[in-house]
Amino acid sequence: MALVSDLKTLLHLVKPTRGQDHKSRLESFYGGQAEGYDEFRKRLLPGRQELIDQLELQPESSFADFGCGTGITLELLGDRAKDLKKIYLVDLSPSLLAVAQKRVKTLGLSNVEIIESDVSKLELSEQLDYVTFSYSLSMIPDWFSAISSAKKWLKPSGKFGVVDFYVSRKFSGPGLAQHGWMKRTLWPIWFNFDGVYPNPDHLPFLLSQFETELLSERETKIPYLPLSQMPYYTFIGKPR
Ligand SMILES: C[S@@+](CC[C@H](N)C(=O)[O-])C[C@H]1O[C@@H](n2cnc3c(N)ncnc32)[C@H](O)[C@@H]1O
Repeated sequence: MALVSDLKTLLHLVKPTRGQDHKSRLESFYGGQAEGYDEFRKRLLPGRQELIDQLELQPESSFADFGCGTGITLELLGDRAKDLKKIYLVDLSPSLLAVAQKRVKTLGLSNVEIIESDVSKLELSEQLDYVTFSYSLSMIPDWFSAISSAKKWLKPSGKFGVVDFYVSRKFSGPGLAQHGWMKRTLWPIWFNFDGVYPNPDHLPFLLSQFETELLSERETKIPYLPLSQMPYYTFIGKPR
C-alpha cells in the first residue's frame, strides 16, 4: 500500500521536530518513519545510484558513507559491496541505523561496520579510499566540520562524492547553474521545516576544497508537489 505508507511519511514530514540537540532532533524526525523511509526517498532523492556508479570503486578499497541513514548505499553498491575491503556506515540516528543493521544481515555482508556517531567527531583506525555524503550534508548544521572530517579520513588519493539538494548563490559564478529568486528563497524555507538546509555555499566550498572530477547540476520533481523543480547536484572530487 504505497499510498498509505506515503501518507504516514508525509505526516512525519509535517510534524514539528523537537529536541535539545542535533541528535535528539534527528531522532524526533526519523524515529517514526524509519521503516517507510526507503520507499518514499526512492522518489525524493535522485542521483544516488549515479553517484555510486560514477565513483568507479576499486575492489579491496575502503569506503565510508557519512550520514548513511538506512544503509541504502549497500543496495546501490550491489555486487560491488562484497568486493570492498571495508564499508563504514556512519550516522547519528539509532532508528535509521537499526534498519541498516537489518540490511547488512539480510545481504550477508561481513565487511560492514556500523558506527553511531556525529560524522564531525568520527574516529576510525584507517584512512579511506572513498567518502560519500548522500543527502546528508544539507542536514548537518556544522557542515564545515563534516567536510573537514571527510578530508581528514580520506587518503590523499581518495575520492569524495556528494549528491544533495542546494540552491545557487545570487550570482553563482562562471560555469555554475543560476537559480532565480523564487527557488533561492522558497526552497530553503520549505526544507528548513524538516531540518534540511539547501545551502548556496556548499557547492562553492566543495569546489574550493577538492579538485573537481565530476559536477552535474540538475532539478527534480518533489513527490506530491506538481510542477516543482528542486535543484540538486552531484559532485566527485579529490582532496586538494
Ligand atoms: C536525508 S538523510 C539521507 C540518508 C541516506 N544517506 C540516503 O541517501 O538515504 C540524512 C541523514 O544524515 C544523518 N545525519 C544528519 N546529521 C548528521 C551528523 N552530524 N552525523 C551523522 N549523521 C548525520 C541523518 O540522521 C540522516 O540519516
